[in-house]
Parts: sequence; structure tokens; C-alpha cells
Amino acid sequence: MKLLHIDSSALGQNSVSRQLTAQIVAKWSASHPGTGVDYLDLVATPPSHLSADSLGFRMPPGAPEPSDTQRRENAVSEALVTQFLAADVLVVGAPLYNFAIPSQLKAWIDRVVQAGRTFKYTEKGPQGLAGRKIVIVASTRGGVYSTSEGGRAMEHQESYLQTVFGFLGITDIRFVRAEGLAMGEGHRAKAIAAAELDIRALVTEAANEPSAARAA
Ligand SMILES: Cc1cc2nc3c(=O)[nH]c(=O)nc-3n(C[C@H](O)[C@H](O)[C@H](O)COP(=O)(O)O)c2cc1C
Repeated sequence: MKLLHIDSSALGQNSVSRQLTAQIVAKWSASHPGTGVDYLDLVATPPSHLSADSLGFRMPPGAPEPSDTQRRENAVSEALVTQFLAADVLVVGAPLYNFAIPSQLKAWIDRVVQAGRTFKYTEKGPQGLAGRKIVIVASTRGGVYSTSEGGRAMEHQESYLQTVFGFLGITDIRFVRAEGLAMGEGHRAKAIAAAELDIRALVTEAANEPSAARAA
């Protein structure tokens, strides 16, 4: 089984999502011996935002020969989409930044959402080509959004990740959430402890489910 571990928090050692993804990966690996782990730190090595040079994978057949810069950018996109497609399990650290995900994580998504590789359009509409994966998102937030309709409508982090991974055909998407992290020490400690309990339950549950067995 291959697991792709992705972090996108800019807060380094102080990041809660980095702490949670590390725990998820450690527990997953312990309950699935032989799991191969690839690690992508999108803050240390971010793919550049899409530009005329990095949109090669969207170029129609017969487009002009790519420049050296375009070839280099195409290789980055190819490496990222190949790594994504090879993974059975993705563990994604996704903090809430300005009501959405960090731009480095968005830049990675922009590289792996590729027509013909991870989705295609049919006469019936779009079809995801990257199914049969489990995605576990460690979601961290300064405020609390999950407990009210108004809060849920304001966040474009979990809802966006659910949509974009769903678009790629992935149906098994799980969230471990620590929210209210900026609402005082007591709240923060409780939120982290609750997320850590969720990790234990989630990994045990996932280890015994058919989707995990399929991925294995
Ligand atoms: C640039 C930036 C933007 C943020 N925007 C929001 C926000 O819109 N809503 C919110 O509840 N928290 C916001 N926060 C707080 C983070 O979600 C919170 O600190 C969380 O712990 C970050 O995850 P991390 O610890 O993994 O870095 C923001 C933090 C940063 C650094």
C-alpha cells in the first residue's frame, strides 16, 4: 500500500495540522505494516501557481514546441500527478486560511486535476478517474465553523476539498477536525485532544473496512 502524506501549513513546528497528519501517518503505518510513505511538504517545495509556462498539460495536441521552462514545469506536473495516482491513501494537512485552503495546497491541486489523467468529460458529464483511494484530511481552524449553518456556509476548506476530491472520483473522504484553536488555551487543548481521539477511532475503523482492504 502507498500512502502520500501532504502538509501545507506555514506554521512549521507550531502547526496543529502537521502534528495531526504525523499522528495519522504513524498510526496508519502501524496498523498497515509494509505501507510505503511518500512525503510532500508544500511549504518547503511548493509547485508554482499555474501560468502560461505551467499549463502544458492543458495544451491541445499540435500546440507549439514547449520552451525549456515549459518542459521543466511539465515535468513537475507529471511527477505530482503520477505520485498522486500511485497513492492508495492520502493524508492531507489543510489549515483554514482566509476561509479557504493555503495557496500552496491549491497550487498542488491545480497540478493534479488533469483532463484525461484524473478526470474526463463524457456525454453524461464529468467522470473522476482517481477513485479507489482513501483521503484523510487533518482540518485545522482558528474559529468554529462546524456547529452552525452560517459557519458551514463560510468555510471553503473542507467543503472545497470534498468537492474537488469527489470530482476526481474519490468517495472515501474523511475529516479529522481541530477547530476553535484561536479561542483560548482551554478550547485549543480540548480541540486537539478530540482530534487525537478521532484519529485513533478513524484509523481503527478504516483498517477494518472494505475500502482499506481494497487499497491494500
Ligand atoms: C494566514 C492565515 C489565515 C487564517 N485564516 C483563518 C480563517 O479564515 N478562519 C479561521 O478560523 N482561522 C484562520 N486562521 C487560523 C488558522 O486556521 C489556525 O491557526 C490553524 O491552527 C492553522 O493550522 P496549523 O496550526 O496547521 O497551521 C488563519 C491563520 C493564518 C496563518
